[in-house]
Amino acid sequence: MNVTVFGIGYVGLVQAAVLADAGHHVICVDVDETRVENLKKGIIPIYEPGLTPIVEENYKDGRLEFTIDAKVGIEHGDIQFIAVGTPPDEDGSADLKYVLAVAETIATHMNKNQIIIDKSTVPVGTADKVSEKVAEVLQQRGVSFDYHIVSNPEFLKEGSAIQDCQRPDRIVVGTDNSDVADTLRELYAPFNRNHDRIIIMDVKSAELTKYAANCMLATKITFMNELANIAEKLGADIEAVRHGIGSDNRIGYQFIYPGCGYGGSCFPKDVQALIRTSDSVGYNAELLKSVEAVNYRQKEKLFEKVLQHFTQNSPQGEGLTAKNILKGKTFALWGLSFKPNTDDMRDAPSRVLMEALWAAGAKIQAFDPEAMPECQRIYGQRDDLKLMGTQEAALKDADALILVTEWQQFKSPDFDHIIELLKYPVIFDGRNQYEPKRLTTKGITYYSIGRSH
Ligand SMILES: NC(=O)c1ccc[n+]([C@@H]2O[C@H](COP(=O)([O-])OP(=O)(O)OC[C@H]3O[C@@H](n4cnc5c(N)ncnc54)[C@H](O)[C@@H]3O)[C@@H](O)[C@H]2O)c1
Repeated sequence: MNVTVFGIGYVGLVQAAVLADAGHHVICVDVDETRVENLKKGIIPIYEPGLTPIVEENYKDGRLEFTIDAKVGIEHGDIQFIAVGTPPDEDGSADLKYVLAVAETIATHMNKNQIIIDKSTVPVGTADKVSEKVAEVLQQRGVSFDYHIVSNPEFLKEGSAIQDCQRPDRIVVGTDNSDVADTLRELYAPFNRNHDRIIIMDVKSAELTKYAANCMLATKITFMNELANIAEKLGADIEAVRHGIGSDNRIGYQFIYPGCGYGGSCFPKDVQALIRTSDSVGYNAELLKSVEAVNYRQKEKLFEKVLQHFTQNSPQGEGLTAKNILKGKTFALWGLSFKPNTDDMRDAPSRVLMEALWAAGAKIQAFDPEAMPECQRIYGQRDDLKLMGTQEAALKDADALILVTEWQQFKSPDFDHIIELLKYPVIFDGRNQYEPKRLTTKGITYYSIGRSH
């Protein structure tokens, strides 16, 4: 099928590449000219395992193309995907300006009947807004075509996005039209062979399903973080508790890892957006508001632990400000991305930590396997941030190590080498990666989440 995808980001590029790889002819349209030109040269704008070879191969074979010329894209596609960003507006609601801009562009150039698929995460009612926008522009042009707006939310996870698209758990399709549903069945047939993964529903329910999924997962993580904080106060071990409850298959082991808060481009903004949507229809989403507040507090946890440790170990002790305590200290930071296997730093816990450390006058020596260029892009050149070539280099003469993101290569480090390189043998672990007893036996002062030791 001829498919057009608007927005070549984490979702648009992966989806386009996977559809092309399955034999469809896909043109990707983006307003970012540099991104488009780079892609034509084989420079992939994001880090996603397995993405580069699929893009390269399908581009070479002509099934995947990139352009900034929206007209070319619209003329090509029988199906137009909208996969642009929906960042939070000032009040936390989803900002639809990019989605509606694409709707306007499609309506401006369409010269045949179209299926317009909303893949971006958008609040309930957005399909109606997209439809109104298209109708308005077609009327201004004095032309008339049939068009259907479908909600087809994306559930991929950064870090395993290719696999998630090639072998999705489910493909949610929101449409009231059975012909349109059949076309989508045909589009997704290559990913639907093993068993039927397509769930057809009305448009509003499909839009809400995406928020329901992300809010559920954010709630699960936050519940566990709250339990971790309680466990810490009570002298219990949250890791034991995690095993204890995860073994109940009504609860399960996934998304119950305690840590330093969830981040990323989806959970924080989607929780916020559903809160605002609920407010707008007169429903006070108290549970979601708590999830947001508890998560924000959790992102401050590592800094609190750092401050507490150095306050206790300072000759003057309590009563000093964070600046008095931490000014001039250097921290080795392992992991910048919001989770492993991505370079995405949107709303990452590392940012809350770094900004708090900088505000207190501390310096950072950071290492991340993939996110350092993104960190450089966000924070630029600054004296209190050094991006180091290796995880060991980050440790050199630092006052402590702080682990923020659980990349595989941080999981079994050489602790003796860490002790040699650090000024003091102190580790703050925001992801409970290490065995407390083992570290304390080695003489390391070890702090983690929800384990009193
Ligand atoms: N990132 C994820 O893991 C993920 C997962 C599921 C759903 N989503 C949702 O998918 C949507 C896209 O997210 P993303 O992370 O891929 O965003 P992104 O920021 O990585 O990419 C968005 C792209 O859209 C382009 N764009 C903006 N306006 C445009 C226009 N008018 N025409 C063409 N291109 C335009 C931007 O230049 C950018 O390349 C969001 O709604 C997000 O919530 C994201």
